[in-house]
Amino acid sequence: MDKGLRKGLTSYGDAGFSLFLRKAFIKAMGYSDDALDRPIVGITNTGSDYNPCHGNAAALIEAAKRGVMLAGAMPMVFPTVSIHESFAHPTSMFLRNLMAMDTEEMVRAQPMDAVIVIGGCDKTLPAQIMAAASVDLPTIVVPVGPMVVGHHKGEVLGACTDCRRLWSAHRAGTVDAAEIEVVEGRLAPSVGTCMVMGTASTMACVTEALGLALPTAATIPAPHAERVRFAEASGRRAAEMAVAGGPRPSELLTPAAFRNAQVVLQAIGGSTNGLIHLTAIANRTPHRIDMDAFDALGREVPVLVDLKPSGDHYMEHFHHAGGMPRLLAELGDLIDLDARTVGGGTLRDVATAAEQVPGQTVIRPRHDPIKPVGAMAVLHGNLAPRGAVIKHSAATPRLLQHTGRAVVFDSIPDMAARIDDPALDVGPDDVLVLRNAGPKGAPGMPEAGYLPIPKQLGRQGVRDMVRISDARMSGTAFGTIVLHVTPESAVGGPLALVESGDLIRLDVAGRRIDLLVSDEELARRQALLAPPVRPEWAQRGYARLYHDTVLQADEGCDFDFMRRPSPG
Ligand code: FES
Repeated sequence: MDKGLRKGLTSYGDAGFSLFLRKAFIKAMGYSDDALDRPIVGITNTGSDYNPCHGNAAALIEAAKRGVMLAGAMPMVFPTVSIHESFAHPTSMFLRNLMAMDTEEMVRAQPMDAVIVIGGCDKTLPAQIMAAASVDLPTIVVPVGPMVVGHHKGEVLGACTDCRRLWSAHRAGTVDAAEIEVVEGRLAPSVGTCMVMGTASTMACVTEALGLALPTAATIPAPHAERVRFAEASGRRAAEMAVAGGPRPSELLTPAAFRNAQVVLQAIGGSTNGLIHLTAIANRTPHRIDMDAFDALGREVPVLVDLKPSGDHYMEHFHHAGGMPRLLAELGDLIDLDARTVGGGTLRDVATAAEQVPGQTVIRPRHDPIKPVGAMAVLHGNLAPRGAVIKHSAATPRLLQHTGRAVVFDSIPDMAARIDDPALDVGPDDVLVLRNAGPKGAPGMPEAGYLPIPKQLGRQGVRDMVRISDARMSGTAFGTIVLHVTPESAVGGPLALVESGDLIRLDVAGRRIDLLVSDEELARRQALLAPPVRPEWAQRGYARLYHDTVLQADEGCDFDFMRRPSPG
């Protein structure tokens, strides 16, 4: 198979001419023949003025290039889509599949023998790994790393658990406008990804568990010199992989690797989004994530990492306590330590080399966990025939078994218009329901599942209520929140049938979510639903492709034609 610059020639009907032309053009950049004869390592550039999470991308690219060159190969940097959570309209999730397609096609189209993908903000690592799994070129992942923590009035602050907490306090009137403006300047004190166990941190940990990155990839803070050296080491390793032709993602993304990733997802108190992304990644391989098996793991695997929002600390503390290698060592036989890694060895090598930090309490031993069971549970019932998810490690324990009266919002705009209306008939024991916020409904399945507590209740000191939706939720949020109700209401799922005043029963111990309305009445309401139509926003372009082909949450929200068939 052709390697380096000879790979994947542009089609002119004359291979010699194609190579001649390619070399003639690239020499315009000043490259020598020696450089152009080397194995090529592609490096994605996801730096963007709209993406502060990737604010260190330029430094990491420079270091990765240095590593590639020190090992005798040729680095080639190329741009791809970059997505930041706060700068993506309507949502970053709407664009994840676009980034996956862009990354996949650019890696396929351009000559490279291995690729380094550099990303981190929530949807970027999933998109890049989905692409890597589909292309199956040797790939190493370099996360940009988490931010360092902020401080305010003697308190440690983290994006974005404390963004939400302090905004709720502002809504409740206990933090005034002047103070919230000061807080705004302190919540994200450096470049890098959110430093609590949100989706970005979750996916970085999952990446390490899948064996796709070198040890400590997930936790080294973004501004630290160690992060730059990590990128250099990844560059060196990528050059070796370019020469060796492996390991390829298909050699690493095995059933054992996916099981390990699910164990880690539970043990870190990971984001619910992690389950959707891991499902999408698995669906790009012959393997699958089984929701019920994931739930069963949750009963077996304890939460060992003490990070917000389930615990008290932040990613830099996780790093200083030994990071993912220490966690793998503590998980022991819950992990398949024979799983291979991109570094050339196994997770056993990684766990064996883990640092033992005296006195640290962030990564707990199994006999002294943060929570005796995992972070997430999968619910079923007449309200969620194909499942729903709750992160019960970040919920109020007394609300995990709860029956309450539904207060229904038909859409996100409806919720925004009415949630703070003093005339809204709502009490602390009610269940807030939001629909039309799923993959097709909103569109892009926004992180709207963290419905705000109505102001009238917030002022009475109500901090949590049961909330149910077909939306997602930021991994940084806290609350008794049922998410990803599938099928979503926009395609006729049962959430569309709920009426204000109906009773809803949440039974996390029994893994149930039920609407206490008779089957006959539900059938009557179903018959009255208008059939789904393609909405105005989805008439053309990417939006139409998205609307017509996006899958539901239990299938990872990928496009239906991007999945790889499963032999099973
Ligand atoms: Fe980028 Fe949180 S906004 S990781």
